[in-house]
Amino acid sequence: MRGERPARRIVPATLAFDASGTPFSPQFGDVYHSADSAIGQAHHVFLHGNDLPARWAGKRVFTVVETGFGLGLNFLATWQAWRDDPQRCARLHFVSIERWPFARADLSTLHARHAELAPLSSQLRAAWPPLLPGLHRLHFDDERVTLTLAFDEALEAVRGFALVADAFYLDGFAPDRNPAMWSAPLFRALARLAAPGTTVATYSAAAAVRDGLTGAGFVIEKRSGFGRKRDMLSGHYAPRWAVPRPPVRVAWRERHAIVIGAGLSGAAVASRLAARGWRVDLIERGTAPSGAASGLRAGVFQPHVSRDDNLLSRFTRAGFLYAMRTWSDALDDVATPPWHRCGVLQLADGAENEARVADAAVALAHPVEYALHATRADASALAGREVAIGGWWFPVAGFVRPAAIVQAQLGHAARHAGSGPAPMLHLDRDVASLQRDGDLWSARDAAGAEIAAAPVVVLANAGDAARLVDPGADLRRIRGQQSYLRTPPFAAPRVVVGGDGYVLPAVDGIAVAGATYDLESDDPCPNAVSHAVNLDRAERMLPGSAAGVDAATLDGGVGFRCVAADRLPMVGAMVDVDHARTGRAALTGAHFADLPRIRGLYGAFAFASRGLSWSALSAEALASELDAEPSPLSHSLLDAIDPGRFVLKALRRGAL
Ligand SMILES: Cc1cc2nc3c(=O)[nH]c(=O)nc-3n(C[C@H](O)[C@H](O)[C@H](O)COP(=O)(O)OP(=O)(O)OC[C@H]3O[C@@H](n4cnc5c(N)ncnc54)[C@H](O)[C@@H]3O)c2cc1C
Ligand SMILES: C[S@@+](CC[C@H](N)C(=O)[O-])C[C@H]1O[C@@H](n2cnc3c(N)ncnc32)[C@H](O)[C@@H]1O
Repeated sequence: MRGERPARRIVPATLAFDASGTPFSPQFGDVYHSADSAIGQAHHVFLHGNDLPARWAGKRVFTVVETGFGLGLNFLATWQAWRDDPQRCARLHFVSIERWPFARADLSTLHARHAELAPLSSQLRAAWPPLLPGLHRLHFDDERVTLTLAFDEALEAVRGFALVADAFYLDGFAPDRNPAMWSAPLFRALARLAAPGTTVATYSAAAAVRDGLTGAGFVIEKRSGFGRKRDMLSGHYAPRWAVPRPPVRVAWRERHAIVIGAGLSGAAVASRLAARGWRVDLIERGTAPSGAASGLRAGVFQPHVSRDDNLLSRFTRAGFLYAMRTWSDALDDVATPPWHRCGVLQLADGAENEARVADAAVALAHPVEYALHATRADASALAGREVAIGGWWFPVAGFVRPAAIVQAQLGHAARHAGSGPAPMLHLDRDVASLQRDGDLWSARDAAGAEIAAAPVVVLANAGDAARLVDPGADLRRIRGQQSYLRTPPFAAPRVVVGGDGYVLPAVDGIAVAGATYDLESDDPCPNAVSHAVNLDRAERMLPGSAAGVDAATLDGGVGFRCVAADRLPMVGAMVDVDHARTGRAALTGAHFADLPRIRGLYGAFAFASRGLSWSALSAEALASELDAEPSPLSHSLLDAIDPGRFVLKALRRGAL
């Protein structure tokens, strides 16, 4: 797994203008774009400098990578050019990096000066993410235009990208004022994303930039510059040396997948694939979708925050924000979304822990709409009754009936099935085995009858995946029970109160408390022992709330989580464990890329207790991998959820 690095605070840019009225950075002492015309510059330097739109004509996917998102004017001009071009590529990916993004209100002021782009800039601002570190994926125009924003330092961001670029827009401030955007390590990192023929363009004609790009393998020429700039640089990647690991882009030619399991994961995968025009056979053993854990009465979606912004926090943040956006899109024609974004209080585990929460809140300085410290008094006011202690307050988090999200995603998949058919749902069919037949996988029932055949299979069937293939990991099936509490006598909070378990606000007179973690139990029915555990926790978080409630009289729901040893999900190409075992001598010191994979077999399972926050982004990452599109996740997060990580660890320990 690639190394951890300390949390990075995202500080917004300062809105300022120079004497000519051009947006200006006091920090760098430079303007954001040519004083002659921002849009003229975008067309002359960046689009034409990369021979666009001609180069994207007729392609399925075209990927632009930009250093310096700024006001987003290059993005908006490129999106508009794509819209205006009848020969446009089917899908445009624009990946851009920004260390100091503007606040949404400042973007409004800046975009107001470009009325011709108003229909697009208003959509960009509506989708503008909170200023939090990491990658943010935004979809536009029926998902045919995708903007992936990296709020990060340029070099770190580029090193983390999992993509192959078709064109680079280099748009830092002037090289003498902003050397980090023009450094040799950055050019080398960009070159690692390039394929032969990938183009590059920049407004700068500085000798150091030309030399740096040449040194990284680009062939560079001077072209006439825009406005008052005499020259600019343009070029293409053509290294004069052999590249040891050139980036490869291998997409499936026959875009047809079997997805096993119609819970949160399977519905998300079906929706992401269908939106890209894949044919999907979705097989579910139950008589309706959401038959298992995703069928519980309610589940909580919320961020995870840690002082060191660890992998879990970063993955959950990206997943939570992406889920909010895709669920909204999936429900675009629904007046009342099924979720309750009432906010979630995550109570601290004791006074010392609360002090650490307060300290982390200051250090991380996350936007207040995402996460902040709530004292016990704040928390009690939010909950509408006394809570035991303060903790984190996540204002836009909440709870939902997971089946509503599954339905919404399946509906979205049917309505937005790209150029392909709507997913075919096979209910009441249990996949008992998978067989490889030439280039196709065949999913068969217990009698050996074929349910569907396709070149690609996605295991979205939680713990049952291990019955169909050796996952190369220990997966635990952990029972959980929720208790349904009538109000009154139970005194429910106004917001979700979590910590050790959770208590939800009442819906139709019933509050859900949960969920137990019963390591040794397989009991499929609710039982009084687990109800007592839930009541006890509720009482500890909300003193006095459970008085008069009798555990023996309660109703509830039971489900089983699928949990990997590190509690992160298994998403990506499945490893051929037998092959790795027999070839282990040759795999000493192996990296992820060296692991033998089972052709056409992918996983999207082991979502533990965070399926709501994780499944949509995991599905997008998987669909991006299948279509060789830029990943919405950085290498470190992709590695963290790679199904091969346990095999790799075992190989490194000599224990496979
Ligand atoms: C009590 C409890 C409380 C929870 N609370 C929360 C919460 O608050 N927030 C949160 O985010 N998560 C919560 N979770 C976890 C969440 O429910 C899971 O992460 C999520 O449901 C996993 O979704 P999934 O689609 O991967 O698996 P599942 O929902 O288990 O779906 C797998 C599907 O595959 C089908 N299937 C399995 N095998 C086959 C086969 N061979 N052939 C055909 N179909 C098959 C099953 O019938 C099922 O429909 C909770 C879990 C439990 C048990
Ligand atoms: C010239 S402006 C980009 C204008 C932009 N392309 C547009 O279309 O509006 C340069 C941008 O690079 C960003 N930047 C400067 N140094 C950076 C760094 N080290 N990492 C990431 N972004 C950086 C600045 O914050 C600024 O927004």
